Amino acid sequence: MPDTAPEGLEGLAYGGDYNPEQWPEDVWAEDVRLMREAGVTLVSIGIFSWALIEPEPGRYDFGRLDRIVALLHENGIRIDLGTPTVAPPAWFYRAHPEALPVSREGMRYAFGSRGAICHSSTAYRTAAAAVTEQLVRRYGSHPALALWHVHNEYGVPVSACYCENCAAHFRRWLTATYGNVEGVNEAWGTAFWGQHYGSVEEIEPPRATPTVCNPAHLLDYARFADATMRENFVRERDILHRLSPGIPVTTNFMTALSQCDSVDYWAWGREVDLVTNDHYLITDGRRTHVNLAMTADLTRSVAGGAPWLLLEHSTSGVSWQPRNPAKAPGQMARNSLAHVARGSDGAMFFQWRQSRRGAEKFHSSMLPHAGTDSRVWREVVRLGADLDSLAPVRGTRTVADAAMLWDWQSWWAQRLEWRPSEDHDARERADSFYEALYDRHLTLDFAHPEADLSAYPLVVVPALYLASEATGRNLRTYVENGGTLVVSYFSGIVDEHDAVHPGAYPGVLRDVLGLTVEEFSPLGEGERVRITAADGSELTGDVWSEFVVPRGAETVWTYADGLAAGQPAITRHRLGRGTAWYISTRLTPAALDTVLGAATEDAGLTPRTDLPRDVEVVRRSGESGEYVFVVNHTGTDTKVPLPGHGTELLTGERAAGRLALPGGAVRVVRLDS
Ligand code: GLA
Ligand code: ZN
Repeated sequence: MPDTAPEGLEGLAYGGDYNPEQWPEDVWAEDVRLMREAGVTLVSIGIFSWALIEPEPGRYDFGRLDRIVALLHENGIRIDLGTPTVAPPAWFYRAHPEALPVSREGMRYAFGSRGAICHSSTAYRTAAAAVTEQLVRRYGSHPALALWHVHNEYGVPVSACYCENCAAHFRRWLTATYGNVEGVNEAWGTAFWGQHYGSVEEIEPPRATPTVCNPAHLLDYARFADATMRENFVRERDILHRLSPGIPVTTNFMTALSQCDSVDYWAWGREVDLVTNDHYLITDGRRTHVNLAMTADLTRSVAGGAPWLLLEHSTSGVSWQPRNPAKAPGQMARNSLAHVARGSDGAMFFQWRQSRRGAEKFHSSMLPHAGTDSRVWREVVRLGADLDSLAPVRGTRTVADAAMLWDWQSWWAQRLEWRPSEDHDARERADSFYEALYDRHLTLDFAHPEADLSAYPLVVVPALYLASEATGRNLRTYVENGGTLVVSYFSGIVDEHDAVHPGAYPGVLRDVLGLTVEEFSPLGEGERVRITAADGSELTGDVWSEFVVPRGAETVWTYADGLAAGQPAITRHRLGRGTAWYISTRLTPAALDTVLGAATEDAGLTPRTDLPRDVEVVRRSGESGEYVFVVNHTGTDTKVPLPGHGTELLTGERAAGRLALPGGAVRVVRLDS
């Protein structure tokens, strides 16, 4: 069995992508000297090195990589070695232009960037396997090797290819999935709009169509594209496992929902030895640390709760947004340590030394153009020391209070065209529910809808349009056994083929929610509805309303205006030993907070009224002890009550009672046992 943590690291991983091939060799000595000064323990190399290690088909030249590996090893820096298969060389595409991917509109992409790959291409698969094998034969038992890094961020920049090779491969996938063409016709509902197929050979990828394409066809293509990338990952992984036994294999995920939407990370999480993730702050006017926390929680959940590793984030600004602000002083460490709080066993960056040339020269790095006499460098050195003091948290697990259900496949289905309202957006609901619970200082796990939920007093379902019958049963059992469930509108509607579950909405969730929905009535752009409760409280919703018929559930809030005026808006169903809430409109943040407040009470979760907004408290626990991370995202000094006494690891001071937490600071208390 391969290890699940980078081989040979005793503390947390610290470092970044290292691309020495962009620099003359005399710079390398300075690189490793400064890496040691910063406390770097691990670097990712070789990710874009294919053209250098295989300059011509079948001729390998490992001279430069040998020297880099030796230098890092001599300096005690461990290696996350990339298979370079995200960037095949120019010679490869000259020989195999068909390996360049094709867009839905039929445009073939050109060489000159990266990630231009048709994952169905046999030539690509063969060449990728060959270079991987050469690489692992050369370095597979090197003492500096800590981790294998396959490819780079599967799913971006190209999530699916629509070429002829993919068409043939899709047909094979359909035959394997459905047995024969009748299975496909049935699953896709091709009786509609005369789309019946006489044989699987007639089926094409869902290329650009004059009007809406069959949604089940689109959904299956998304699954096929994801599975095809995974097939290619698994092929490389198996070569690495075979020839480099014991060394864990990863590929860097991008679980942020705003950054990659084409990969079903539940499935991928099962294939890697160690889950690693890349996270970048998106400047969209919202609180970036909330998205960071959400992404870290999602990554940990994809890892099954085990420690994972943040493989890339930025020391300061990125370079691919329209405007790329620098990070504020102290923000980098706060970001890094917030990931560690939520289960990352380290903090790595893109990239070590800022490039002079190429597409990413304005992207920040650990060693900036400004050199070592710079704020970023001083913060980098400081972070290295901080991570060193946190070495004991390695291997411990983050403790969650509640869970949110999330399913990439349901998201794919919900986003297809011709839904009741284009204003409903599954990701937006997930973000909003997450933010509301974050503001209640609750740590969330994410769970697949069919996962065992019995550990959680509260489970929220912000958007689960596609849900299986097994999901319906799972949620019912969860509530009957005492759980508190909160479901938002347009959930439980269709099965895995985007076919509406028989009978009234919400299909598989009717029983657990104790209601039916007769009709959806989405609101106009900017339109709002008021909803009121017997106690006089008034909430606001927008985007959506519907006609809810209670069948066992009690009405807690009622529509006060709009087409559904006088009818139930928010209901509560007591079932077995638990409670299931249903929210039939898109609640504003304040309204959502009110309803989630009532649900958390049902769940017996004690509100943390003793913590200011934007002060995070997260716990990690394991064999080495119990750790309380407190992260102050505000500029104001505060005091945070501790659940016991212990030692603060970053300052070395004793901590008890109320811990002094300066504005912008992070503290990590190891509780006395
Ligand atoms: C991604 C890639 C890196 C780099 C960074 C820049 O995460 O993996 O190679 O392009 O983005 O933000
Ligand atoms: Zn293709």
